[in-house]
Amino acid sequence: MIPIKSERDLRIMRKSCEIAANVLDEICRLAAPGVSTWELDRAAKRIMEKHHCRSAEYKYKCGSLRYPGYVCISVNDQVIHGIGSKDRILKDSDIVSFDCATIFQGFVGDNTRTVYIGEPSPEVRRLVETTAEALNLGIEMARPGNRVGDISAAIQRHVESRGFGVVREFTGHGVGRSMHEEPEVPNFGRAGTGPVLRPGMTLAIEPMTTMGSPEIFVGDDGWTVYTADGKPSCHIEHTVLVTESDPEILTLPTAG
Ligand code: MF3
Ligand code: CO
Repeated sequence: MIPIKSERDLRIMRKSCEIAANVLDEICRLAAPGVSTWELDRAAKRIMEKHHCRSAEYKYKCGSLRYPGYVCISVNDQVIHGIGSKDRILKDSDIVSFDCATIFQGFVGDNTRTVYIGEPSPEVRRLVETTAEALNLGIEMARPGNRVGDISAAIQRHVESRGFGVVREFTGHGVGRSMHEEPEVPNFGRAGTGPVLRPGMTLAIEPMTTMGSPEIFVGDDGWTVYTADGKPSCHIEHTVLVTESDPEILTLPTAG
């Protein structure tokens, strides 16, 4: 069953997603050469407290493991679920994704951005821009009567047309009272397949892309996902509401 949010749910969900976006914004602004990802994780905790929300990721359970960070921080060949570390000092020409999921009044807002430290190489810039475009093309398909596969296919088509890879093992998802709800929203697949989209569904759409091969592996910490070939990767995510008409991106920071 894919949850349909009521008007009341959506009032909170909109607020909760706006907060998630504001928190992510503040975290991204702290990313700079010489800063450790551990410091950024501590900062994320403080920023969430300031915004009266909490991390949906801290202590998130997977098997017997509990995620130890407040925000996922993934550098270069780390695709997703990187853990802040005192040993990881950001330096010029790194790219970093921050995956920030927060809970406010019982609803989760989930969003991710990839930022450059200093000047990226032209190839890295192209990877990040392509991923952002693919996300927008996917969001564009989040309309009533369309199917999940329409989102997936739009993302895959764009990323692969530019010569980049999409990760298969992790997907986007429904989001709301919990971080992960039905349906799964893969970043690859066939148009016209999968569950039909209806107004009131809220989806986290999140292409995870690679400069080289889309093969990945999970590191020794049990969380961090790396590209198998060691090449850079990118991850961008929004929480989106399916409406009667145009899709509504919920994870936009407060204007101004
Ligand atoms: N927020 C992530 C997502 O986009 C989930 C991270 S789970 C964690 O679905 F435990 F690694 F934080
Ligand atoms: Co997500």
